[in-house]
Amino acid sequence: MYKVLAFDAYGTIFDVYSMASLAEELFPGQGQALSLMWRDRQIEYTRLVSMADPAQLGSRFYTSFWDLTTQSLRYSCERLGLPLNESAESALMHQYAQLEIFPDVVSTLSQLKNKGLNTAILSNGSQKMLQDVVDKNALTAFFNRLVSVDDVKHFKVMPQAYQLLLDQFSCQKKEVLFVSCNAWDIVGAGWFGLPTYWVNRFHLPFEKIGLPPTFQGPSLTELIQHI
Ligand code: LAC
Repeated sequence: MYKVLAFDAYGTIFDVYSMASLAEELFPGQGQALSLMWRDRQIEYTRLVSMADPAQLGSRFYTSFWDLTTQSLRYSCERLGLPLNESAESALMHQYAQLEIFPDVVSTLSQLKNKGLNTAILSNGSQKMLQDVVDKNALTAFFNRLVSVDDVKHFKVMPQAYQLLLDQFSCQKKEVLFVSCNAWDIVGAGWFGLPTYWVNRFHLPFEKIGLPPTFQGPSLTELIQHI
């Protein structure tokens, strides 16, 4: 039924939540607060960039996700009154570049490959960030494509970002199952018209707007039963 399984990267394949432990080592008592504010601000910056110039050919304010990640880290530290020196910034950004995968990733991707399905990452991450973190985790053979929003200079949830999957795989919306742990990303993909699987790793309520996910489960493992 599906031709392509397309995965969000951060939080879905790569464990961004591990950032809180390093943040806690660097700023005792503030690790959780920093990592939460950092992630929220990072996503808010992506929305600002795209909303301020939703032009079809890309936002003139576009700057890579790596830069926005650095700038949102700096903002969050300043807002929380944490002294972010060069070595702390570099340690946090280095860890972000080298994130580990969740334990359910390899078995899920192997099963999808055995079924002969196309697989992709569709991420706000820059092409270089995606290539580096996929290489570091030896996942290259599991993906047909690493699709970065760099190609359209707009971030998710702009329709241009999800459209990349249809263009790269020459397929229709109903043939792509989009997988993300971010409920906002599921809302964006659903509004665009893709079937979705929400990985609800933390048993969160779904957003109160948008279409509910087509499928959902507590991890990637349960995804296979819907393919
Ligand atoms: C991504 C982030 C937003 O990979 O999770 O696009």
